[in-house]
Amino acid sequence: MFRIIKKETMAQGITALTITAPEIAAKAKAGHFVVVVAKENSERIPLTIANTDKTAGDITLIFQEVGFSTKELGLLNVGEHLEHLLGPLGTATHIENYGTVICIGGGVGIAEVWPVAKAMKEAGNRVIGILGARSRDYIILEDQLSLICGELFITTDDASYGRKGLVTDSLRGLLQAVEKSTHTQYPELVYAVGPVVMMKAVSELTKEYHIKTMVSLNPIMLDGTGMCGSCRVSVAGKVMFACVDGPEFDGHLVDFLELQKRLNSFKEKEACLNIACPRKT
Ligand SMILES: Cc1cc2nc3c(=O)[nH]c(=O)nc-3n(C[C@H](O)[C@H](O)[C@H](O)COP(=O)(O)OP(=O)(O)OC[C@H]3O[C@@H](n4cnc5c(N)ncnc54)[C@H](O)[C@@H]3O)c2cc1C
Ligand code: FES
Repeated sequence: MFRIIKKETMAQGITALTITAPEIAAKAKAGHFVVVVAKENSERIPLTIANTDKTAGDITLIFQEVGFSTKELGLLNVGEHLEHLLGPLGTATHIENYGTVICIGGGVGIAEVWPVAKAMKEAGNRVIGILGARSRDYIILEDQLSLICGELFITTDDASYGRKGLVTDSLRGLLQAVEKSTHTQYPELVYAVGPVVMMKAVSELTKEYHIKTMVSLNPIMLDGTGMCGSCRVSVAGKVMFACVDGPEFDGHLVDFLELQKRLNSFKEKEACLNIACPRKT
C-alpha cells in the first residue's frame, strides 16, 4: 500500500509523487486533501490531492520542499512506500454550473487549483485561469491548465514570463474590462489558492465588485480530523476548524491577519527543526 509509482520534478524544489492508494482514489473529489506520514516517526503533513486516477487507483500529490517534512518526502523514490496516508479529508469543493469561474493559483497553489478548475469545467463552467509565480521556472501545470481554461493568464514577479506583476493585476485587468464592456459579464465565482497574502489581496479586490470568492486556507494541521484545534481559523467571527469545516471558505469572511499571525508563530520552532533538514546527496 501507498507505493510510489511515479516521481517527477515539476520545478526546482517542487515534486509530484503518484502513489497507489485505491481506497482514497475511489472517494477523492476536488478540494480534498490527505495527511501524509513519509516514514515511521515522521511528522504528519497535509497535502492536496492534485490528481486522481480512479481506474488505476492512484493519487498524485504535488508539493514544494519548504522544510523538514516536505524535504524528507522529496527524498523518497519510485518503488518506496509512504508510512501512512490518511484521507480523503476536508470538505470537497462545491461544484456547480455557475457560468464563468476564475481560478487563481499562486506558487504551488497552482497544483491545488488544478483539480478544482477541472471539476468546474466538467460541470459546464467557462473557466478562466490566472497563474502566478516568482519566475517562469516556478509556473507549473501550464499545459494541463491551458486544456481546461478558455483563457489562461500568467504573471511572474520578475517578468520572466507572461505579465510582470501579481495575479491581482491580471484579475483587476479582467474586471475592469468587464466594467467598460457592454456585452461581457462579471464572473459568478473566483476561486483562489496560494500564499495567505495573495488570497487576502484577491478577496479584497473581488469584494469591491461583489463577486463570490472561495479560498483554500493552509493553517498548520496535525490530526486533520477536527480533534487537536491547531487548524483553527476565524470566518465571519466564528471559530472554524479548517481540516473539517474547510479548507475552503468564503474569502470575504476570513480573518487573514489572524491566519498569518498563527502561521508565523511556528516559524522559529520550524527553523530550529530545519537545521537538521534531510539533504539530497
Ligand atoms: C489543507 C492543506 C493542503 C495543503 N496542500 C499543499 C500542497 O498540495 N502542496 C504543498 O506544497 N503544500 C501544501 N500545503 C502546505 C504544506 O502542508 C506545508 O508546506 C508543510 O506542512 C510544511 O512542512 P515542512 O515540515 O516541510 O515545513 P516546515 O518546516 O513546517 O515549514 C517551513 C516553512 O513553511 C511554512 N509552513 C508550514 N506549514 C505551512 C502551511 N500549512 N502553509 C503555509 N506555510 C506553511 C512555515 O511557516 C515555514 O516558513 C497544504 C496545507 C494545508 C493545510
Ligand atoms: S488539524 Fe487538528 S483540528 Fe484540524
